[in-house]
Amino acid sequence: MKKLIIEGKHKLTGTIKIGGAKNSVVALLPAAMLTNGKSVIYNVPDISDVHMLLEMMKILGSDVTFENETVTIDNKNSVNKEIPEEYATKLRASYYFMGVLLAKYNHSEISYPGGCSIGSRPIDLHVTGFEKLGAKIKINNNKYTITSKKLTGSDIFLDFASVGATLNIMFAAVKAEGTTNIYNAAKEPEIVNVASFLNSMGAKIYGVGTSEIIIEGVKELGDGIVEVIPDRIEAGTYLIIGALLGKNLVIEGIIKEHLGSVITKLKEIGCNLKIEGTTVTLNKVDKLKPVNVKTLVYPGFPTDLGQPMSTLLTQCEGESLFEETIYENRMRHIKHLNAMGANIKLFDQSALINGKTELIGRTVVATDLRAGAAMLVAGMLAEGITTITNIEHILRGYEKIVEKLSSVGGKIRLIDT
Ligand code: UD1
Repeated sequence: MKKLIIEGKHKLTGTIKIGGAKNSVVALLPAAMLTNGKSVIYNVPDISDVHMLLEMMKILGSDVTFENETVTIDNKNSVNKEIPEEYATKLRASYYFMGVLLAKYNHSEISYPGGCSIGSRPIDLHVTGFEKLGAKIKINNNKYTITSKKLTGSDIFLDFASVGATLNIMFAAVKAEGTTNIYNAAKEPEIVNVASFLNSMGAKIYGVGTSEIIIEGVKELGDGIVEVIPDRIEAGTYLIIGALLGKNLVIEGIIKEHLGSVITKLKEIGCNLKIEGTTVTLNKVDKLKPVNVKTLVYPGFPTDLGQPMSTLLTQCEGESLFEETIYENRMRHIKHLNAMGANIKLFDQSALINGKTELIGRTVVATDLRAGAAMLVAGMLAEGITTITNIEHILRGYEKIVEKLSSVGGKIRLIDT
């Protein structure tokens, strides 16, 4: 079992470079299997979710290489197979093979996906979308078998602007006969990134980044090329850490438009950040103001940054409100923050945070990926030593986190027990 050991309160100086976005790459890799040709994906982060997806692609017969932040995929020998349950259940994004294999072979077999336990996370919108395109779905012991004689374009309205459902329906529709309109589509930047990859293969996808996406089906797809966008969640996490501990800490390689809600909130709190092009320089300030943070779909405040942000709110002087609206189970880190000295009252999906409270190092648990990030921020801030267990969650999404924080003066190490 791996643990992180952090000695808190060290100032951070230097530069942290942001890697490629986890939530983009985990869709880009399955998407690369839509073509029989070759693809190149640049700026790929070295995270465990990427390695797991590459293993699944090898099972499906793809030749893949991963070197110098670049993944190449050649599908000349690819075949359709059931994705073994032990792979599918390791991460959420395995569900993208549903749409991809359905589009490519009119048949996909895969278990219900894994991922963080942050709520019930149904996939009914994906399934309804596939059905609208003409597929039939059988569910047996958690295994989904999805088949179609032929996929035909359709109008699909999503009850919720789901990232996963938008992408999975896009994958299934890309080679369907006729036009598909997805209404109330998710607008996250990762969706734009994935659509531009598919369009580089010859797909005809319009309107991404808005709530109506139009997909004109094409018969064949060719070779593809794409660069993964910077990870706005990794960047946001380091902005939060830099706001609390930075001494001319530079976060390099961001797209500031993707971080609009986060940067606005940090400025409201009174954080000292200077944005120049794709870099942000942060300096700790002594007095921070309380603020309310409510997570929403993009361009609202990202649910994936709500938990690390709640740690920052413990350092604001006064009462802040943190509300989670996307998932039911995003508050499991609060008891650990309180154990470290925070003063947080939990009301179902809301947390009333009273600050400023000194945090003290403790042994805490990364209950999920972003809860782990919240504990990491707390550990960096706390007096003494913090030990974070279950950090496999953190390693799924944060590239070289120990190296990146150590290189700017953080006292953090990973141990294998
Ligand atoms: C993706 C991200 C995750 C992020 C989330 C919201 C990946 C791999 N993960 O997750 O990091 O937190 O977007 O930005 O990209 N829902 C349904 N039925 C469905 C699908 C979703 O009810 O068929 C609900 C979910 O339970 C949740 C909400 O919609 O309450 C958002 O889910 P969705 O946008 O689909 O998130 P994911 O794609 O799972």
